[in-house]
Amino acid sequence: MQYSPVENQIIRNQYGRLLSRIVVDAELTGVVAAAVEELLRGARSMLDVEPAIMTEIPKGSYLHIRLIEDAGYRRNEGQRWKLERDAFTLRQVQTLEEDRLQLIGGSAAGVLYGVFELLRFISLGISPEGLVIEECPSNRLRMMNQWDNADATIERGYAGNSIFYESGRIVKDVSRVRDYARLLSSVGINGISINNVNVHDIETSFITDEFLPDVARLADLFRAYGITLFLSINFAAPITIGGLDTADPLDDTVRAWWGNAVSRIYEYIPDFGGFLVKADSEHRPGPYAYGRDHADGANMLAEALETYGGIVIWRCFVYDCMQDWRDRTTDRARAAYEHFKPLDGRFCDNVILQIKNGPMDFQVREPVSPLFGAMKDTNQIIEYQITQEYTGQQRHLCYLIPQWKRVLDFDTQATGAGSDVKRVVSGSLFGMKYSGIAAVSNIGDDENWTGHPLAQANLYGYGRLTWNSDLTSEEIAEEWTRMTFGNDITVVSTVLQMLIQSWPIYENYTSPLGVGWMVTPHYHYGPDVDGYEYSRWGTYHFADRNGVGVDRTKATGTGYAAQYFPPHAEMYESLERCPDELLLFFHHVPYVHRLQSGKTVIQHIYDTHFLGVEQAEQLQQNWAALSGLVDTARYEQVAGRLAEQVEHAQYWRDVINTYFYRKSGIPDVNGRTIY
Ligand code: GCU
Repeated sequence: MQYSPVENQIIRNQYGRLLSRIVVDAELTGVVAAAVEELLRGARSMLDVEPAIMTEIPKGSYLHIRLIEDAGYRRNEGQRWKLERDAFTLRQVQTLEEDRLQLIGGSAAGVLYGVFELLRFISLGISPEGLVIEECPSNRLRMMNQWDNADATIERGYAGNSIFYESGRIVKDVSRVRDYARLLSSVGINGISINNVNVHDIETSFITDEFLPDVARLADLFRAYGITLFLSINFAAPITIGGLDTADPLDDTVRAWWGNAVSRIYEYIPDFGGFLVKADSEHRPGPYAYGRDHADGANMLAEALETYGGIVIWRCFVYDCMQDWRDRTTDRARAAYEHFKPLDGRFCDNVILQIKNGPMDFQVREPVSPLFGAMKDTNQIIEYQITQEYTGQQRHLCYLIPQWKRVLDFDTQATGAGSDVKRVVSGSLFGMKYSGIAAVSNIGDDENWTGHPLAQANLYGYGRLTWNSDLTSEEIAEEWTRMTFGNDITVVSTVLQMLIQSWPIYENYTSPLGVGWMVTPHYHYGPDVDGYEYSRWGTYHFADRNGVGVDRTKATGTGYAAQYFPPHAEMYESLERCPDELLLFFHHVPYVHRLQSGKTVIQHIYDTHFLGVEQAEQLQQNWAALSGLVDTARYEQVAGRLAEQVEHAQYWRDVINTYFYRKSGIPDVNGRTIY
């Protein structure tokens, strides 16, 4: 959204002509007004034209924006095509009399997304000649979760403080929030929960008259960009702020209390999205305290919201966080499936389960959560983490789109071949009413939004992938790079390559072969191999002098592998067939166990850790070669982060290698320095 002036004269003239006159066939209010304003901003800045907004069709070149709700028209011979809610078409129509670019949105939001697509095309230098675009999002719900607290801190935030709050209140100056809304809608995000899933004292009152006028101000702002506002709620609110002595979901007074709370919210925000709920998880209150289950809890809220069209997004991140590390029968990885699978079919229509991409917690490498595909009668969305809690905290470069794509492309086999996670979450596999993708945001009030300037690619890419799950990681990275740094071929190819390589690089020098964690407790940054080994969090690697890894097989381990559909269950169960990258997630093996790659586990650990550091150094050198080709401010910021990454990667390497050398007593075959 820098809208840098277009350098290619042909493109500039083509679009300059078309955008000098814009006919808008829709009321210029709300989302359409925001779309047109954005278009004007982009046109002025990129093309140096001042478009005339008209209602009459002119002669010659112009852009025609139309809103046709429930439009049906011929796409192919004999085939009727209906524009869905957020869909749009963008095409050039050339006759002897006119040269028109036509943008038709199936809703005001569709118009907005079409405008952003057009602006993207202009900045990418894609010619309008013969343009025929038909876009419809892969996912209906495209959510952003803020983990922002009212005191302006952000849980797992690595880019400064919150742009939403100051001193316990919602900010008065919302200009930064408005820019955020623009950023989000430019990549198709259409829902946002504005407070942390861990709802503390102040945020518990967000649903009261004290805060609702302020919350409504934000809802108004987001509404103009097609984004619906949600709140995270405290399940114990009837006690905390309602003066009741119970929050039992089956208690009539509790139900009435929520009914009132919800009706009050809708007085302020008529299109309020609904609640995001973390319950019975990491000490958050929930229905278990009353002997009820998650369906009871979610359905109570769903019934309160139903009349108004609101929904409940109920998180499946539920596990025993008070586990005794000596207890080998409990396995945190099994928890979500065990808690929720038996409830399939019991949730109301307006309840959606939000499932983290993996069974544990946003590690650099995890298998796909076996819940995807396992609940055929329950709405569900996937949850990703854009904020890089376990992937370098925006001090390290880690482009996450390839990781997310691996998950979306995973074929669960739930109904046989072709049951990909992306079809589960798009709702097409089981015909779900609500479905989509959510993610934890990575922004804060840092001037560059994300701390690491290149971490913006994750925010951008999240939206693009959610809009179109078939885009490749490379396509997304290239779009972002060119719009961010311009079209210089050296810059584009270097940044693109850096982004694409970064996730495997980070994985190489951190925890090996899918085992996870090995990080400093609480902060989750930097290596501490045994940091969580004797703790209550259920995140162990079980390294001893003979071997390492978690036996999650059915035959001899925790049985987690059996939660998958065949043939995955058998594949993960098998020591020979389990993919190397997940070996230590599923198996406890001797250090001399040979991987499919032919290397022993211990040599793999040494090799990847030495390699990871070399690769991090290479990233630094690649960036250094761009000195003078990107602006100084961003050049310096990225260079600073990469220097830190190299230093910390060396530390990771030395701690991990030394730990395993001391445990195993097996030297590196290449005789490199291990301490
Ligand atoms: C992780 C994270 C917490 C967060 C939790 C969640 O465990 O470290 O800060 O609250 O996930 O997703 O609820």
